[in-house]
This record gives sequence, C-alpha cells and structure tokens, in this order.
Amino acid sequence: MPADRHPSARPRPVLVVGSANVDVSVTTPMLPRPGETVVGDSSMISVGGKGANQAVAAARCGAPVDFVARVGDDAFGRMVVESLSAAGVASGEVRPVAGVGTGLAAIYVDHAGQNCIVVVPGANARLAAEELETLAPAVAAAAVVVVQCEVPLPTVYRVAELARRAGTPLVLNPAPAQGLELARLAGPATYLVPNETEAAALAGRPATTRAEAIDCARRLVPTGGSCVIVTLGAAGCVAVDARGDRYFPAPTVEAIDTTGAGDAFVGCFAASLAAGRPRDEAIRRAIVYAALSTTRRGAQASYAGREEYERAWAAADPASA
Ligand code: RIB
Repeated sequence: MPADRHPSARPRPVLVVGSANVDVSVTTPMLPRPGETVVGDSSMISVGGKGANQAVAAARCGAPVDFVARVGDDAFGRMVVESLSAAGVASGEVRPVAGVGTGLAAIYVDHAGQNCIVVVPGANARLAAEELETLAPAVAAAAVVVVQCEVPLPTVYRVAELARRAGTPLVLNPAPAQGLELARLAGPATYLVPNETEAAALAGRPATTRAEAIDCARRLVPTGGSCVIVTLGAAGCVAVDARGDRYFPAPTVEAIDTTGAGDAFVGCFAASLAAGRPRDEAIRRAIVYAALSTTRRGAQASYAGREEYERAWAAADPASA
C-alpha cells in the first residue's frame, strides 16, 4: 500500500498562506468619531490576523492545517506561534523575522457588535513572493490552498499561480481588497470569497443588497473566481458560478462581536471542502460556523471547537444529524 493510502496517514491538509497579528480589542457603546475620545467598557489582547484566524477555524472544524506566515522576533510573535500550536495548526513555516514587530490590529467593537479595525502589517509585509519558491510541493500536496490580502500582493499572485499549476483548489479571500488586481492572478481562483465591501471595491459598484451582490459576483466570475461567494453578514451569502446563482440564508443569532466572522466562514469552508463535502454543504456549514462565532468576543477566541460546531450544524440542518 502506498504511504499516502495508509489508514494512519495524515489526510491532505488545508494550506493557509497569510497574516498573523496580535489583536488589541476594546468594546465601547459608540465608535469614536475623528477627534473624539470615548470611554470603553472592556479590553482584550488576543491572537488574530486573517490568515491565522482562517487556519485556526479550519483546524477547529477538524482539518489538518499547515500555515505559512511571518511574525516578529518578539513576545507577540511567540504568543502567535504558541497559540497556533495549541489549536493544532502546523506552524513550522511561521518564521520570526529579526528587527520587525509582529503584525498588530487595533479593533473597536460597539454594542451592536459592529467593528472597525486598523491593522499595522509589521512582519506580515515580509512574507515575500520569492520566499515561496520552496512551497510548490506543499501546494501540490494540499487538499485546498487559502490566501487573503494582508500579505504583499505579489505573494498573493504567486500563491494563486502555484495553486493553478498544481491543480489545487484555491480559496482567495480578497480582504482587504485594496489594490488587488484580479487581472494579475494567474487565472480565476477556484473560489473568490469577498464580503459585500470587498465585492463592491472589486466590481466597482454597490453590493449591499442580495441582487447587487449577485450582480457584482457575476461581473467578477470571468477574472476573479470560477465561483464567487459574496458574504453578506447576518443576511447569509450568495454564490455565483457559470451555472447560475444561489442564495444561502444565515441562522438568526444574538451577535455581540463580528470580528473574524468572515475568517470563520473561510476556514470552515476550506475545511469542509478538504473533507470532500460538496460546495453547497460547505457553504451552509461555513455560514453556521461564522454565525456561531459572532455570539462570542474576539476572532479566534470566538471559534467553536469540533464538537460544538457539529452540534450547531446538526441543529441548523437536522437532515445532517
Ligand atoms: O478579520 C479579522 C482580523 O482582521 C483580525 O483578527 C485582525 O487581526 C485583522 O487582521
């Protein structure tokens, strides 16, 4: 029996390339306006970054996960690596860079659960495309590759090219969308997963309503993704591909903090694809997982473990139990 068919062999992993940050989050009754100081009511320092969040979400949903990132040679960098290891994410390619700080995000969350974020890339800006030359075998061995845009854009284009060459499905989360030129991708990603703001930025028109989101997605399919999934927060998401479009509603939950909910969606979606689930089931699972994450504070800190996730999925989709 070949080694990769042995019952105890590690299944093909989700390979995430992306950012790792430390998040300094505060909650406040109202987000401050320019020049204003407001009094907040709680604070939290935790591990975040869209790449790390997606890696941890995929691992909590049961996938083996390999993560490629850069952190500072500092206490925050060590905090990131320890936290990834505790979540079961393989972090051998999360390397410290001397003389630069770990990425840091300042996050403000209001009592309606909405947030705004300022992210300082730090070491994330040092994950250069040239450093990915040795990554081709890992891309080829992965079940799914995931990348977002908090690392240099040439790195994103390179990951897309490696995935295309290897024939490995690519989930591209264009977050933040600023500066991303879809025409510079080696070809459409297998799945392009923007939120409504990112879809609007990429398509150059609003994506607030379901109809607008579908319109944007249709326009993005030829260059951006064979399938474009626009996430709409509490309204669920739409998925558009050459065969047509589909709407997926979200369960109603008491959301207190939406930080990292999009990353929960992407991580769970990738884990579900890696487990061989069909696209539509992977989307429905990802919506349930993301909704659950909004009921707790923080990004990774809000992600459910495998058992809780499967219980929530069974409750949301009784046919699956
Ligand atoms: O998507 C949420 C993430 O965005 C936070 O964890 C923060 O680090 C920023 O990267």
